[in-house]
Parts: sequence; C-alpha cells; structure tokens
Amino acid sequence: MERTFIIVKPDGVQRNLVGEIVGRFEAKGFTLVGLKMVKVSRELAEKHYDVHKERPFFGSLVEFIISAPVVAMAWEGNGVVAAARKIIGATNPLTAEPGTIRGDYGIDIGRNLVHGSDAIETAQRELALWFGSEELVSWEQTVKPWLYE
Ligand code: RTP
Ligand code: MG
Repeated sequence: MERTFIIVKPDGVQRNLVGEIVGRFEAKGFTLVGLKMVKVSRELAEKHYDVHKERPFFGSLVEFIISAPVVAMAWEGNGVVAAARKIIGATNPLTAEPGTIRGDYGIDIGRNLVHGSDAIETAQRELALWFGSEELVSWEQTVKPWLYE
C-alpha cells in the first residue's frame, strides 16, 4: 500500500494546529502508520531539503524547520501521496484553495504549516530519512471494508 511523509512544520505546532492537521488526514480515511515529535537537526533539515539547496530560500527554509519542534508522520492508503498534496493545498497559502490546510490557516509562503512528499519516490526517500523501520507500524484498520470497495 502507498505511503507518504507529512510534517506539521514549526508554525503548525506553535499555533496549536497539530490536532487539526492530523484530523484532516484521519477524517479522509488514511491510515496513520508513524508519528513522532522531532527537534530537527541542521543535518537532517539540509538532507530533507537537499533538492532546494541552490534556491535563494534554502537558508531561511532550513533555519525555519530547525527553529522549533515539528511533528513527523507517515500515512498510508490508496493514492495517498497525491491526495495528501491536495489536502495540503498550493505552496503559497494566499493562493491555496479554501478547504485545504494552507488555504484555511496560512498567509505566508514561508509559514505554510505542512510538508507533504511530492511523489511516490520522494515519499520513500523521505520516510527512510526520517523514520527507522521499527518506527513504522503496519496495521489493519477494521473499517477498511467501509473505505475501500
Ligand atoms: P513542501 O515541500 O514543504 O511540502 O512544499 P511544496 O512542495 O509545496 O513547495 P516546495 O517547492 O517543495 O518548497 C519547499 C518549501 O520552501 C518554501 N518556499 N519558499 N520564498 C519562496 O519563493 C519559497 N518557495 C518555496 C515553502 O515553505 C515551501 O513549502
Ligand atoms: Mg516540496
């Protein structure tokens, strides 16, 4: 089954939106298979955002993600990678649609509350970077027949 990697960024934790954000993915029906609070090291932040290292915002992005604790999560379900990106909304919260997390709660592109893997391969790389295999829990949701035909 497909898995994706989601972070409640420091702004989401500081603004007491962890429950709200986790709830969006739970209510959709996806399965939570990993969850932890992390004080991110500079090394982990730089590895996570490696794809952006030549971008002008790389420095401030790394400083931000290490500035306060984050909540890292793994979610499982059919099509979860693309669906999570839709639940999160466009990168800039001002243009993100209402009903998305960023559209409902954010204003600034540098304070957009959530990270979500942008492709299945990215999700695999990010999950391996952030979680040990023993931290990811495979389990069967008893409501599954009511979520999948
Ligand atoms: P994310 O990786 O956090 O899920 O966000 P994303 O895919 O929607 O956006 P991405 O292009 O991967 O950018 C990563 C994060 O960098 C910040 N950013 N700032 N100032 C800027 O022009 C700019 N562009 C991107 C955002 O916080 C974005 O989430
Ligand atoms: Mg991205």
